[in-house]
Amino acid sequence: ELASPDSIQPICPWRCHGEPGGLRAERSAGSPSRTGLSAIFDACQRPRCLAGANCLKESMTLTQLPGAPHIAYHGSQLWIEGVRLRDLARVHGTPLFVYSKASMLSALAAYQRGFTGRNVQICYAMKANSTLGVLQVFAQAGCGFDIVSGGELQRVLTAGADASKVIFSGVGKTRDEMRQALESGIGCFNVESEAELEVLNEVAQSGARQAPVSIRVNPNVDPKTHPYISTGLKGNKFGIAHERAQATYQRAAALPGLRVVGIDCHIGSQITEEGPYLDAMDRVLDLVDAIEASGISVRHLDFGGGLGINYNGESPPGADTLWSHLLQRLDARGYGNRQLMIEPGRSLVGNAGVCLTEVLYLKPGEQKSFCIVDAAMNDLPRPAMYQAFHQIVPLERQDGALTTYDVVGPVCESGDWIGRDRALHVRPGHHLAVLSAGAYCMSMASNYNSRGRAAEVLVDGTTVHLIRRRETAIDQMQG
Ligand code: LLP
Repeated sequence: ELASPDSIQPICPWRCHGEPGGLRAERSAGSPSRTGLSAIFDACQRPRCLAGANCLKESMTLTQLPGAPHIAYHGSQLWIEGVRLRDLARVHGTPLFVYSKASMLSALAAYQRGFTGRNVQICYAMKANSTLGVLQVFAQAGCGFDIVSGGELQRVLTAGADASKVIFSGVGKTRDEMRQALESGIGCFNVESEAELEVLNEVAQSGARQAPVSIRVNPNVDPKTHPYISTGLKGNKFGIAHERAQATYQRAAALPGLRVVGIDCHIGSQITEEGPYLDAMDRVLDLVDAIEASGISVRHLDFGGGLGINYNGESPPGADTLWSHLLQRLDARGYGNRQLMIEPGRSLVGNAGVCLTEVLYLKPGEQKSFCIVDAAMNDLPRPAMYQAFHQIVPLERQDGALTTYDVVGPVCESGDWIGRDRALHVRPGHHLAVLSAGAYCMSMASNYNSRGRAAEVLVDGTTVHLIRRRETAIDQMQG
């Protein structure tokens, strides 16, 4: 039962603007009469919503779903590209992660637009989502990859990445991982400490190789994000302090097993403002000025990742806008023609994915009512870890009284919640979508409570690819 993609238009979920094919058409097709919410729908007319301040479009965050236009309501049903999500939940079961390929490619295109005419290598930070099918999308689009472990290296090479476009970040690389990366011929090690520099030199020399290195500097800039995901402040474990950077470059240049190729910084994640990027860029360029003045040339400049996404009304700059401004600054300082690198993760995949879940039980309570679903903190760890907010919407919108629930999973912890105080009209057996679930969900999923990890599908137009099958109890007991 798939609609042809051209019949699918992203429309306001509340149809306040009465799109063709929206409320009016439904009414004329004999939909049952509506009460409550529909009084407001009925007040909505084209071309302007007459409900004014009462318009749900204004008062609900659902208007433009994160993930639009690739994830959007069509009539009362939630679709991803040309596929109705309800159908996927039925065929593949829940919890189920579903990704839109077009959404990933359009997020990538925003970066590519921003860098038009520049010498840039976009290295997808695969920790955001390391499923092979997702990696293939970026590998086929010509991306490089930012990795942080030997496991990630193996995965990304399996997905067909070009090793020379792989950069290896992380504060705790082991000798084995260094060896493995050197043998694969990766493009660059982002070295995070003076001690690591010495070990990498030894490992490279023992294999009669030279390791390409870039030093990750810690610019001491506040990215204004959650403390667990800010990485460029003095108190963070990442990178080499700004004050030590020059001496570290001198040392790197003197070690025979190393070849200095670049400089790197990454100040944090879910950054929604431009300022911290501009500040970090200035700090890094100050260092490059000084390092090059001392006779060491720094071929590439890597400005990390970190651009935020809209989870619940945040409005980070678009990747193209952000980069057009950063490039102006870079040009003004005379570095516009350098080889550039970036390491975006979340902004490429976060809003390309949703997690589908089924309502198991409703549990009314005196203080709280709970909507117990079959996805849990092992599938979606971000709320438990960072009190993160993900929108939760029905796969099939129905009129009816809204009840405020905490949406929780089956895991035996009070920290196992997915959304708090959510107004929903649900019954057991209904399906919900947890939005903005493309980044740092499946890649952080665990087997806690011996729960098998969810299945994942990638949608490309009307084609559905199962890119990871559901993990079974037997899978979990291997080894
Ligand atoms: N490069 C390095 C060196 C990083 O440490 C990170 C993310 C990235 C690039 C990609 O950053 P992005 O563009 O995705 O913001 N689990 C947390 C996010 C942790 C980010 C860690 N580093 C979350 O769920 O919010």
